[in-house]
Amino acid sequence: MAQVVLENLCKSFPARPGQKSATTAQPLLTASGAISPAATSQSASGAAQSILKHVNLTIADGEFMVLVGPSGCGKSTLLRLIAGLETPTLGSIWVGDRHVNDLPPKARDIAMVFQSYALYPHMTVYNNLAFGLRRTGSQTKDSKPSFAAQIANAFTRMLPKALSAQSKQEQAVNQTVRRVAQMLELEPLLDRYPKQLSGGQKQRVALGRAMARNPQVFLMDEPLSNLDAKLRAQTRAQIVQLQRQLGTTTIYVTHDQTEAMTMGDRIAVLNAGEIQQIAAPLELYQKPANRFVAEFIGSPPMNFINVVVKEGTHLVHPHFNLTLPQVWTSVLQPYVGKAITLGVRPEHFSVTTRSAQTLPVEVVLVEALGHETYLSCLLGIETPYLQARTSPQQVVQRGDQIGLAIHPEQVHIFEAHSGVALFPT
Ligand SMILES: Nc1ncnc2c1ncn2[C@@H]1O[C@H](COP(=O)(O)OP(=O)(O)O)[C@@H](O)[C@H]1O
Ligand SMILES: [Mg+2]
Repeated sequence: MAQVVLENLCKSFPARPGQKSATTAQPLLTASGAISPAATSQSASGAAQSILKHVNLTIADGEFMVLVGPSGCGKSTLLRLIAGLETPTLGSIWVGDRHVNDLPPKARDIAMVFQSYALYPHMTVYNNLAFGLRRTGSQTKDSKPSFAAQIANAFTRMLPKALSAQSKQEQAVNQTVRRVAQMLELEPLLDRYPKQLSGGQKQRVALGRAMARNPQVFLMDEPLSNLDAKLRAQTRAQIVQLQRQLGTTTIYVTHDQTEAMTMGDRIAVLNAGEIQQIAAPLELYQKPANRFVAEFIGSPPMNFINVVVKEGTHLVHPHFNLTLPQVWTSVLQPYVGKAITLGVRPEHFSVTTRSAQTLPVEVVLVEALGHETYLSCLLGIETPYLQARTSPQQVVQRGDQIGLAIHPEQVHIFEAHSGVALFPT
């Protein structure tokens, strides 16, 4: 086991002829204002696509770190750099006390699980699990079998099981395979070929193959995205449990915020190649550092409403007024007379009758999920619709004219231009 440290990691790919640069191709992703001027001008030159920009991240020994971000933000590239499948343009990668930039993938002692399971189709489950072990010699990493021993092992494997007097190495392989198969409930499947397995079973074999190697670090790149919703939830819990049991440092990549929230000890949010925030799941939810994180984490997402700061903590909007608690006074002082963005999570609205303090809205959509109900509401000409989460007992129908009350202690405030969050003092 080992900690992993990424220091000032950058990756650019040469621009392909006729191709737009990464940052100009994704103008929406810059809405948080978090993209640095340097990065923008670099990609605007067309010389190279800057995919990862000065990534600094420390994953503690034994930690389960989730790397989450929208498709195309550079997550797989980051994992491939750590695994040694890509070379950094700048920066350092440390695994334990080893600087691994110049080490080939095999020497890094890292196992990667991909979205596509990448199993060997001509091998049984048993041999898929055993393959990495035989290749590296045995579980003891520094003892490599001699050429003669390798030949003897290969010969032994060709014999029917009853006849083979197993070599020591093959016995060790067998033990490890059986142990991993038991943990992942793969024992009944050991003699099957990948084409005889369901998606979930294949994914468990891919996980098992990584586990069997007992590496210092697991890298997992969206390993659950090919599974249906029920199996995904099951396997999610299983991976978390296994990681706790094994204590292997893990970096898990996903674009799914539910996976991120439920699996990680900590979450690193990536957007357009830049880390936006690194925090424990609930901290990320409760104190998002900017508008991008606030919108990305949480479903339905946070609502954003532009308001103007009047004196003190009074906020005004063409359709309502809101007074925030006193703790906001000094934070809002520089913004008096200016616009800021109010962020409200769907659960921090409550449905009530209209008054001067409530948002006068029309309900345009009611989604009743059973345990809770989502309302999409129209406030003047404000778009997109505001989304509120209510209890199923609350009787609301499409077309109702209602008031939405905001819980003032629960609001988030962002600078209108940069999207950076302000926090009460
Ligand atoms: N080998 C490559 N050459 C050029 N561009 C690449 C290469 N690999 C990835 N990219 C680009 O890098 C960006 C990030 O890709 P990727 O890391 O796969 O994103 P993610 O995994 O977050 O969806 C994409 O715009 C992709 O087109
Ligand atoms: Mg990817």
